[in-house]
Amino acid sequence: MATRRTLAGADMLSRDSLPRMVGVFAPASISNLGCGFDIFGMALEGIGDQVLVRAAEGTGIVAVSVSGDGGRVPTDPARNAAGLAVQGVLDRLGSEAGVAIEVRKGIPLASGLGGSAASAVAGAVAADALLGGELDRTALLECAMIGEAKGSGADHADNAAPSLLGGFVLVLPGRPPRMVEVPTPEDLVVAVAHPHMEVETKRARTILGDTITLEAGVQQWGNAAGMVAGMFSGDWGLIGRCLCDAVAEPVRARLVPGFEAVRASALEAGAIGAGLSGSGPSVFAFCRGRHAAQTVAAAMGGAFQVEAGVRSDIMISGANAFGARILENE
Ligand code: HSE
Repeated sequence: MATRRTLAGADMLSRDSLPRMVGVFAPASISNLGCGFDIFGMALEGIGDQVLVRAAEGTGIVAVSVSGDGGRVPTDPARNAAGLAVQGVLDRLGSEAGVAIEVRKGIPLASGLGGSAASAVAGAVAADALLGGELDRTALLECAMIGEAKGSGADHADNAAPSLLGGFVLVLPGRPPRMVEVPTPEDLVVAVAHPHMEVETKRARTILGDTITLEAGVQQWGNAAGMVAGMFSGDWGLIGRCLCDAVAEPVRARLVPGFEAVRASALEAGAIGAGLSGSGPSVFAFCRGRHAAQTVAAAMGGAFQVEAGVRSDIMISGANAFGARILENE
């Protein structure tokens, strides 16, 4: 089983030495993982958003700046994922501190890689650290969820939870949400193809409607249980068999030109299983080892080009074992 490090979070800082500035990195993530709509997510290595929070004159959030987004992310704190999460922390702590927020986007917008969740998580962890690190991980998740909900139009934590904790996380919905860390096999490597197109999560949720058939439900909860069992036992056959989505993917496939062919190309190239990353358009595949993942990623990128005429960014990643971490404070 892969080992997981604990959250490098606010508890590193003592009350006697409150910083003036804290910078936090929070990783991108793949949510749903086929059968776990709104309840499964896994953090990725090497890609994420950074949020710097500085003590400032005044009360509440006095400024938000964003880079790396082509000028598209709102800087109004009430419409910005990090701003909403920071406000959630201030409210929770009853703080009237003034803070300025700087968001550095590293995750492409509307890519299905958990960008708004990463900004929200980084904002919540940074603000909490700036104010003394009093919040536990459940409280941090709830603050991050406020930021995430604005963008997707729904209350779900399947990107925010892995971005916060790292690794594969099962989130049980409810108040408070419960995070369950699921171990992954040592040689699990994820291949991701991010095609140069965008899918807005809000729209991808609207087209799902509110109901599913009993048959789809039975398939989905059987596969979700099987996926967790497969991860715990390292049973690749079970993981592969369960990596399919009876609920969202069949409806959403039409939002991503070439999706079915890309998924098929991943399986043909040796993937254990493949599916839409979150609400898409990125497609992910579980693979055994880096060599296999490279082959699969190249096949997926090629299929997007041939089937949809779009270029893709290709990523290879193990399960990120760190989650959100403080990069700097002064
Ligand atoms: N579980 C969410 C969805 C993730 O599929 O809508 C969105 O990123």
